Parts: sequence; C-alpha cells; structure tokens
Amino acid sequence: MELDRHSHPNASIVDAVIRSRRAVRCFKPDAISRHVIEQILDVARSAPSNSNTQPWRVYVLAGEDKLSLSDALRRAQIEDRHPPLRHLPDPLPDAMRTRQEAFGATYYGALGISKTDIQERARATARNFDFFGAPVGLIFAVDSSLSKYSWLDCGIFIQTVMIAASAVGLNTCPQVSFARYQDVISTHLGFPAGFDVVCGMSLGFADERSALNSLDMAREPVQGFSSFLGFDS
Ligand SMILES: Cc1cc2nc3c(=O)[nH]c(=O)nc-3n(C[C@H](O)[C@H](O)[C@H](O)COP(=O)(O)O)c2cc1C
Repeated sequence: MELDRHSHPNASIVDAVIRSRRAVRCFKPDAISRHVIEQILDVARSAPSNSNTQPWRVYVLAGEDKLSLSDALRRAQIEDRHPPLRHLPDPLPDAMRTRQEAFGATYYGALGISKTDIQERARATARNFDFFGAPVGLIFAVDSSLSKYSWLDCGIFIQTVMIAASAVGLNTCPQVSFARYQDVISTHLGFPAGFDVVCGMSLGFADERSALNSLDMAREPVQGFSSFLGFDS
C-alpha cells in the first residue's frame, strides 16, 4: 500500500512544529516556570542514544544564577585570554563555506554590521552570553571521556528539547559560543570533574518586533544532500 504522508493526521502537526523552529536572537523578558521547562525536558529525555547511555547533562539557569554566569562570561570576554573557539575547521569544505558566508551576510546584514567591523562583531557575539535577553539559559554538558558518537546523542537530545519547546510556542537558540569559556562555565556551575560544554541555549518567547528573528536561513533541497540507491523511480 502506498503511504501518503500528508494524509496522516499527526504529520501536519509534527511538520509544522519542526518547520516553525528557528534560531531566535532577541527575546521578551517574560518568565517561564520551572514546571514548563521540566515538562520540556521530560519529553526530550525520550531521545534515543547509543546503547541507551543518555550521556547528556543540562544546567537550567534563570534569575540571579543566569545573570551571574552572564557576568562571568562578559568579564572573560573582556579579559580576552581564551583563544578563539575553532568550532569549524579552517578552511571549511567549499559547499559549507558558501553557506557559512551566506549566513554571515544575512546575520550581520540584519544587525547592520560590516564584514570588517571587528569591534561591532565582537559586541554581537557578546549578546550570546546574555542569552539574547531570554529569561532562561541552558548549558548542555557531556562527560569528556566520551567520543563524537555520544556528542551525536547530545545533538539529538538538544534538537528534541527545541522541538518540545516549539510545540508550546517557546523559542530557542542553540549556541556553540559558550564552549569557548569551558573553564569559566564548569567552575561557575560546579560541573563534575571531566565534563565538557557541548553548547548553550537561550529559551523564551521571541520578540517578534526584532528583524533578527525573521532571518530565513536557506536550506538545500533534498536532492542536494541525499543519494537514493535501489529505488525504481
Ligand atoms: C550546534 C549549534 C550551534 C550554534 N551556535 C550558535 C551560536 O553560538 N550563536 C548563534 O547566534 N547561533 C548559533 N546557532 C544557530 C545557527 O546559526 C542556526 O541554527 C542556523 O543559522 C540555521 O538557522 P535557523 O536555526 O534559524 O533555521 C547554532 C546552531 C547549532 C545547531
């Protein structure tokens, strides 16, 4: 029997939630209760993981605790003793470099910052550490002894958090920028020995007035990244 995905009752809801998620970088200050975040994490914990190891750990910050981490990170950024985070290789493979440049042009274009304005770019980066004004900040961590396969588990978990948040009208931004300040964060939050920052995340309600929140980042069509083998058509 031919499956018509579009006629399945759950598909339109799930698809709409997945497609409506976008990285939000300007939040309203409206608070979110611990209860709602616990519900989101309770959904996300059903994410799959290699041998069901569930390697993720998450710190959920609000109020004074969030502000004090942001302060510590702002100080660290001003001190400037941390080397830049090499979160992508240099040079990037061509296709990815083209997309990264398109992202940079769209993002900094929306902020009105030119490619050569290093100071303003640093100021824009600093906004990451304020969780873009979101009332809740999350820091995801993983045991440093684990390999890239377990980081993959964390990625699946993190996306599930974002989808569960989107389903109740909350917005997010996953943020690798936090990983530059691994030592500051692990000390500040009291990580167990030997844990790495995977990434941070802002969580809250988007300020829809901000042009920064309507960047429509292009995606490759399916045929651009997939190879089908053994199908009749
Ligand atoms: C692992 C990961 C790390 C990211 N780190 C940052 C970051 O540090 N700061 C930021 O503003 N956006 C960050 N982003 C958001 C991406 O720029 C964004 O997902 C991408 O441009 C696609 O846009 P969209 O999420 O709105 O569809 C990150 C996304 C991922 C998945």
